[in-house]
Amino acid sequence: MAENSKDLLHVEGGKPLVGSIQVRGAKNFVSKAMVAALLAPDTSVLKNVPQIRDVHVVSDLLRLHGVNVDVDEAAGIVTIDAKKVQLADVADVDTLSGSSRIPILFSGPLLHRLGEAFIPALGGCNIGGRPIDFHLETLRKLGAKVDKEHADGIHITAPDGLHGAKIHLPYPSVGATEQTLLAAVQAEGKTELSGAATEPEIMDLVAVLQKMGAIISVDVDRTFRIEGVKELKGYRHTSLTDRIEAASWASAALATQGDIFVKGATQPEMMTFLNVFRKIGGQFDITDEGIRFWHPGNELKPVAIETDVHPGFMTDWQQPLVVALTQANGLSIVHETVYEQRFGFTRPLVDMGATIQLYKECLGSLPCRFQQRNYKHSAVIFGPTPLTGREIDVPDLRGGFSHLIAALAASGPSDVNGISLIDRGYEDFRGKLVALGADID
Ligand code: EPU
Repeated sequence: MAENSKDLLHVEGGKPLVGSIQVRGAKNFVSKAMVAALLAPDTSVLKNVPQIRDVHVVSDLLRLHGVNVDVDEAAGIVTIDAKKVQLADVADVDTLSGSSRIPILFSGPLLHRLGEAFIPALGGCNIGGRPIDFHLETLRKLGAKVDKEHADGIHITAPDGLHGAKIHLPYPSVGATEQTLLAAVQAEGKTELSGAATEPEIMDLVAVLQKMGAIISVDVDRTFRIEGVKELKGYRHTSLTDRIEAASWASAALATQGDIFVKGATQPEMMTFLNVFRKIGGQFDITDEGIRFWHPGNELKPVAIETDVHPGFMTDWQQPLVVALTQANGLSIVHETVYEQRFGFTRPLVDMGATIQLYKECLGSLPCRFQQRNYKHSAVIFGPTPLTGREIDVPDLRGGFSHLIAALAASGPSDVNGISLIDRGYEDFRGKLVALGADID
């Protein structure tokens, strides 16, 4: 149960979501761009920043390190002055541990500015093991010494500075790619990073680093080449739109038989999602201001999808879309190849009336690290099934938003507990739901 009423949302479902909402900058870029500002003894300005909890956590972490962070929430502008950087008190940093995965990315910038870094135990959504072995291996290859003996976290030093290295990632991890970029930009000499991820949020981070003075190129085979530079300066940049939030609202339109204009949504980063949306039978119209997504009133069609790194179908798009697939006519298949345990959120959907079966087998053809590993990482969804409202506990960010969509699509009332988890990545979702005509309290 939610500990207080602020964490509980009462939803009267069964009403189509109709109207227009604005989506601002990408959670998974903005937080990294804020960390990049640490690299320059100068002022950086980031625009199109959403008011979400992850931005507050990174602002607080930067402040603990002596950085001045000014957030104009209404305008969506964050100004970061990193002239002075100091080591934060371990106990203070620890108060933020468990809140986010971002602290590990402070390593490179802090090593460059101060020669050492302390990384608290990490948080983030509980959707699998989420190890940081690639991050630590990358830092070691660049010359850092990693001390894991500390009870509260990891102490990292670079007594001789960081130097370029040849690094290969065993899996194209988004975070480990960003780790390498942030640490290698000022390392002495050249770094080659192969097997990297090239998500649009990563490429926007590369754009920020280039504005700061970095020299980074990327080959067609997803290899980054970074030539270390001695000095970087502050940047001015406008974040790309949050394509995960945009797709979440698109799935909400489909699941509730609604019609939502997502202002700010852009086509290039969403092409893979748009193809799937169209195959299911959803309609969309792309304009210069955003994308309108709607349910045409016809029967929805089932699909088979496999989540993958960019340009594949994003793992973060999967959860909200599964709710819409419960309303498609036939068997849909989702093979999750990024996280081993991202289907926990389907249990409450089944309790609401969905027919979803989970399998340990790979139900798809992509090479998958979870083959023969006993993880239920494939889902078969049979629809259409009417959903009925009930009490739901939010498990994680994307799973939580999916439950919210299910409650809105269901007939009857639902109580969604732990709703504040959704504030981590969905700006003012309560206000947006009201704007779309949802009956919530
Ligand atoms: N992995 C390792 N070792 C590592 C790092 C990753 O084995 O050292 C594995 C992970 O366990 C996972 C896979 O590699 O199975 C991919 O993880 P990745 O590092 O790409 O994920 P991340 O950087 O921790 C970011 C987003 C996630 C998003 C993934 C994949 C942020 C803050 N988070 O996480 O976003 O799902 O990339 O695109 O950027 C979300 O927004 O809800 C979210 C979970």
